[in-house]
Amino acid sequence: MSDVAIARLNGVLSITLARPHKKNALTATMYEAMIAGLDEAERDETIAAALIRGSGGVFTAGNDIADFLAAAQEGAADMAAFRFIQRIASYGKPIIAAIEGPAIGIGSSMCPHCDFLYAAPGAQFAMPFVKLGILPEGASSLLVPRKFGARAGEMLLLGEAFSAEAAAAMGFITAVVPAERLYAHAQEKGEALARLPRKAMLAARALMRADQAEVLARIDDEARQIRAMLGSPEAIAAFKAFMARGKG
Ligand code: COA
Repeated sequence: MSDVAIARLNGVLSITLARPHKKNALTATMYEAMIAGLDEAERDETIAAALIRGSGGVFTAGNDIADFLAAAQEGAADMAAFRFIQRIASYGKPIIAAIEGPAIGIGSSMCPHCDFLYAAPGAQFAMPFVKLGILPEGASSLLVPRKFGARAGEMLLLGEAFSAEAAAAMGFITAVVPAERLYAHAQEKGEALARLPRKAMLAARALMRADQAEVLARIDDEARQIRAMLGSPEAIAAFKAFMARGKG
């Protein structure tokens, strides 16, 4: 059981994160299931777009911190998180994200790779990588300064959380949508894409991703540095502090 559910409806393949007891924190198995879903959506000619969504009122609490700790202690030659980010950064079809509740770590750093982002009013974004003793990933170190300028330090160094409304105001997401309409709205946008002339839609989207080579190179560079930093005393202490939180 991968804690990820895949479904198809009217030209949209949805990938639902479903590990509610851990706030949809992402494990290696979940990244593999997400990559498999994305591969399937890209191959399948009946599918126009992929929709990534959470469940249980949460998008995702980010990478599973127990997995970070295990990688720090046992070595991190292959981390599925980096392969997932590479997959969405080089993806050939539009990606829609529907976000309610926390979208932490990779839950936020995946956003600049999505084409349509809708969030419910209570959504909260944060990229606390440095607080955890590691580094921004998913090419966020390139894309956040480039797209959000003077906000980048608060977002990536201080790891400050920001609301759905703030995210919409700066163009980090497309729009805030009432919680009760969120998933239907995201699905409708996917269906609107499915009704467009497919070749033209995909070719237009490819042109909108002109900086892909630079983005992929940055993802690799960040991943190399994060692997080297995961086992640092600072990072291990931060992972252990999170795991021990509220336990006496
Ligand atoms: N990795 C592993 N477990 C996580 C997790 C993560 N990223 N985020 C949450 N969990 C687990 C908690 O340990 C807890 O497990 P337990 O019930 O076995 O103790 C459970 O999910 C519920 O989380 P909790 O913190 O009690 O819920 P909350 O509603 O108070 O807070 C968050 C939700 C998302 C705000 C909070 O869990 C959080 O900040 N998570 C870590 C975010 C983070 O730093 N992610 C990594 C970014 S690189």
